Amino acid sequence: MKAVVYDKYGPPEVLRIEEVAQPVPNEDEVLVKVHATTVNRSDVHTREANRGSGLAVSLLSRLVSGVRRPRRRILGSEFAGEVEAVGAAVNEFAVGDHVFGNSGLRFGAHAEFMSIRESARISRLPAGMTFEEAAPITDGGLNALMCLKVADLRKGRRILVYGASGAIGTAGVQLARHFGADVTAGCNTKNLELVRSLGADRVIDYTTEDFTKNGQTYDVIFDAVGKVSFRRCLDSLEPGGLYLPTDGFENLFLALWTPRFRGKKVVFQIPPRQPKQDVQFLKRLIEAGEYRPVIDRRYPLEDVIEATKYVETQQKTGNVVLTIKQ
Ligand SMILES: NC(=O)c1ccc[n+]([C@@H]2O[C@H](COP(=O)([O-])OP(=O)(O)OC[C@H]3O[C@@H](n4cnc5c(N)ncnc54)[C@H](OP(=O)(O)O)[C@@H]3O)[C@@H](O)[C@H]2O)c1
Repeated sequence: MKAVVYDKYGPPEVLRIEEVAQPVPNEDEVLVKVHATTVNRSDVHTREANRGSGLAVSLLSRLVSGVRRPRRRILGSEFAGEVEAVGAAVNEFAVGDHVFGNSGLRFGAHAEFMSIRESARISRLPAGMTFEEAAPITDGGLNALMCLKVADLRKGRRILVYGASGAIGTAGVQLARHFGADVTAGCNTKNLELVRSLGADRVIDYTTEDFTKNGQTYDVIFDAVGKVSFRRCLDSLEPGGLYLPTDGFENLFLALWTPRFRGKKVVFQIPPRQPKQDVQFLKRLIEAGEYRPVIDRRYPLEDVIEATKYVETQQKTGNVVLTIKQ
């Protein structure tokens, strides 16, 4: 089968298309013929061994992905496609089912076929969705849901979603609204309308207004793009308010330390938990018309380097999809 492989950490140019052996599903696995996948920030960070985040994070990243070279040659965590074969012990899926999901750090979706355990994050496609539309459901969706679930969002709670135009931010706005919170979203001028259309009650253009200096306060600040910090947000949080980060090594320590005290806290799930039920939850929200993954650009699999370079600008709006010609 055709796949995008890489054998050393480095810039996007380490990626190349190669013919490799098609995976054979174990007895508890499903073989998926991938029609669409994405390039997301996990792919980018893993490919460069997180070198942009400093030596400590890069070393940790290599411990997970392979110290000298990547243990898994094929990136891509999000997928949508068709079940091609199932292992003997698989009950939930049958050949021909249309499915989507997320293989996490097992990756493997930048290929014509991938295998994944039926108990992992895989579900049937939401009714009426195409493969291209479904491929980017989970990256922003699961990351945002994992953060917001701990925030006790409900009617009457005020949240600021900062970086509301990224994969996690666009998902965060929609989920916060679903939970009934009063949502303020921060993004660039060009995305104000989009973010409003996702359900934000009000939007702040970060190019003209600094939310940390406008006197407004929130029960929760969700830093969906890793561009602010707990310290900068302190005056914008209500007493007992929560700061939810998506990035930043120091937040690991703050998330362990700040909950020991009454008052404002950093909350982050350690280790991260994104169960299969969350994928099914997102599917139900889509079918109820309450959630949609935002797609910025689509590229054919062969243009993976170009797609990756665009993701690396950190300026995508929502998600970048790769399509695989059948
Ligand atoms: N996606 C993942 O798999 C994953 C997993 C764990 C953690 N993370 C971390 O979570 C963060 C968000 O990930 P993501 O995939 O959602 O990012 P993303 O989609 O690449 O975010 C891009 C968006 O961020 C906006 N942005 C850039 N600079 C900004 C700023 N200073 N203030 C406000 N918005 C800004 C950009 O809009 P403008 O340029 O128009 O402002 C763009 O729409 C990243 O730090 C990432 O490392 C990601």
